[in-house]
Amino acid sequence: MMRTVFFKKALAVAASAILASAFLTVKADEGMWLPSLISQRIGDMQAKGFRLSAEDIYSINQASLKDAVVLFGGGCTGELISSEGLLLTNHHCGYAQIQKHSSVEHDYLKDGFWAMDRSEELPNPGLEVWFLDRMEDVTGAVLDGYEPGMTEQQRDSVVRTNSEAIAGKAEKDGTGLRADVESLYYGNQYFLFVYRVFKDVRLVGAPPSSIGKFGGDTDNWMWPRHTGDFSIFRIYADKDNNPAEYSENNVPYIPKKYFKISLEGVSEGDFTFIYGFPGRTQEYIVSEAVRYISEISDPHKIALRTLRLDIQDRYMSASQTVRIQYSSKNAAVSNSWKKWQGEMRGIRKMNTVETKKENERLFEEWAAGSEYSGIVGRLDSLYRLMEPYAFAADYYNETARAIELTSFAAEYARRLEKAAGVSSPDEATQARESAKRLAAAFYKDYYMPIDKESFIALMDMFDRNIPSGFKPEYFTESMGRYGSAEAWADSLFGNSVFSDSSALTKTVAAACADEVGTDITLLTDDPAVEFGNEFRKWYMEGIRSVVQRLGSEITLLYRDYMKGHMEFNKDRAFYPDANLTLRVAYGSVQGYSPGDGTYYLPMSTIEGIMQKDNPDIFDYNIPQRLRDIYAEKDYGEWTVTDASGRLTVPVCFIATNHTSGGNSGSPVINADGDLIGINFDRVWEGTMSDIVFDPDLCRNISLDIRYVLFIIDKVAGAGHLIDEMTFTD
Ligand code: ARG
Ligand code: ASP
Repeated sequence: MMRTVFFKKALAVAASAILASAFLTVKADEGMWLPSLISQRIGDMQAKGFRLSAEDIYSINQASLKDAVVLFGGGCTGELISSEGLLLTNHHCGYAQIQKHSSVEHDYLKDGFWAMDRSEELPNPGLEVWFLDRMEDVTGAVLDGYEPGMTEQQRDSVVRTNSEAIAGKAEKDGTGLRADVESLYYGNQYFLFVYRVFKDVRLVGAPPSSIGKFGGDTDNWMWPRHTGDFSIFRIYADKDNNPAEYSENNVPYIPKKYFKISLEGVSEGDFTFIYGFPGRTQEYIVSEAVRYISEISDPHKIALRTLRLDIQDRYMSASQTVRIQYSSKNAAVSNSWKKWQGEMRGIRKMNTVETKKENERLFEEWAAGSEYSGIVGRLDSLYRLMEPYAFAADYYNETARAIELTSFAAEYARRLEKAAGVSSPDEATQARESAKRLAAAFYKDYYMPIDKESFIALMDMFDRNIPSGFKPEYFTESMGRYGSAEAWADSLFGNSVFSDSSALTKTVAAACADEVGTDITLLTDDPAVEFGNEFRKWYMEGIRSVVQRLGSEITLLYRDYMKGHMEFNKDRAFYPDANLTLRVAYGSVQGYSPGDGTYYLPMSTIEGIMQKDNPDIFDYNIPQRLRDIYAEKDYGEWTVTDASGRLTVPVCFIATNHTSGGNSGSPVINADGDLIGINFDRVWEGTMSDIVFDPDLCRNISLDIRYVLFIIDKVAGAGHLIDEMTFTD
């Protein structure tokens, strides 16, 4: 394998300096910037209307806006809005918690939930929020001991050892700290992130889904939008205000900083700033990688999910119980399904593959004779080698792993196996308890007809689209033995002990009767466990190992490519790809034109909710209370006057901030640093922004804070929460 090694220690420092220096231009509003380096962008932000300083955004010496922002539940963002730990995020971010507390008798998804005093706030074991304590460039320390000429494996091991030491040391600085070292720009730079983790986070309020998920999956990723996508939690701490496990004795957390709320609202052109945790972007990948995503991966994954969604939808509309059971799963399946469709179209519309190809040609011309020469060609060949494996991995995730019973059964057996394997009785009990909890959660929301039909549809597609050389032997054998996916499903679902939760309980009770040695052969021979294990083995040994090996060669080349690119494009401001670390995105409120002859205004109001209201369509059936309020125009102080002079309630708005999955729940901040909204989505035509950002089409969608307050005040009657908040005058 060819390798260009140019990262001497001194060079590492020099490269850091290049990365850190202020680059001149960036395409309008593209970019998710590191808060600690925001001084490099603050001039541009201020030129666009921002009135605060870099220290107001991020500071290690004083409370700053970063102290009011959290990573919520490992995949969303939230913000503090009171001196007593009150936190805002999206309804879809709190959805799993709301769903877990729901049953047919207490259907908080359907009816909403409002704690009328602190004692009614609901604990959520397992839910965490992370505050960023500080971040720091540790490139030099991470590469300490690295010598030019080392192999990539040796470099990895240096990086890993140093990172662990750096993070371990940082965690010792206080209570509840968690530290990670993250690679940026494919390992051209490394940053330490230190978080303070809170584990007692209680549900305070959520509107009914007819508001919080208004428009459902039909309106998801779409504009104009009218979804009241918010929920409210409260962080609790021990009596010293430190992170602690859940306890009745915990008290509301007093944050270093919380957002003041502005009721001034927005007009087209106004500056907005999003502070949050975007999850993953791939802005610098080569044309060959984009081609795989938009021409192969996205279309196949979409087709596989269409099958599952059709099956789920059919059973969900026939039964309220099934609707509750599958609401959260269905939303998750449908969300990416729809996003990929927008992404694929956006990439084609922007001609990204061709544009990148041309760019790569120019890069190679420039690079001729240098250390960067030939990188693109090498990346292309690696991608071509990887393609069938990446495809098989996509299929594994979207077929075998999407089957609920077999995935659960294999995991359950793994936990019992662990119980049987450990010598300490305590550990064995723990493992058995964790299996029990897994089973309880699984059966609460399981409906076998959906799963069995999905099994048949997915196995058929697997059979049709995975080349025979790539199929697991177990699969080919089973299909041969049963003759069809239907017959296979009949046998598997008919004979598995997991198909019947009470049979499983008996079997396990018998197996565990002798507490010392659990006999789990009964379970490992089970056809559902066998399916899960066989597919997993095939994937881990035959597919993932290759994807990882080629993947690390690809990353290595990208490290050079990225660095070369920065030299090649000296005038461009580069920002690191999203990696679920805290970022700043800024832009302005703007409408857009999705196609010829159409222009979308940037704001929506309650008028649009009434236009969509339809008692016969589940997603558009609003609560009667909202209809009454509208009829009486009983809006309280949460109003605007629209262009035609009508008094109405603002609902959502769009802007040009560069956001991604994970930015859901992020605070939307105005030029003075005050809270004006909650980010929750992007427009469909712009979902390719994780790969390529089009300033004309990419828009983030936010909930106007005044709609949030209107719902809390007028619909929920939970004004005591508003009394906790602070407003700008
Ligand atoms: N599209 C938004 C995001 O990616 C919201 C998803 C939740 N809403 C839904 N209807 N599935 O998370
Ligand atoms: N809805 C997304 C989220 O949950 C945000 C986005 O993808 O724009 O983070």
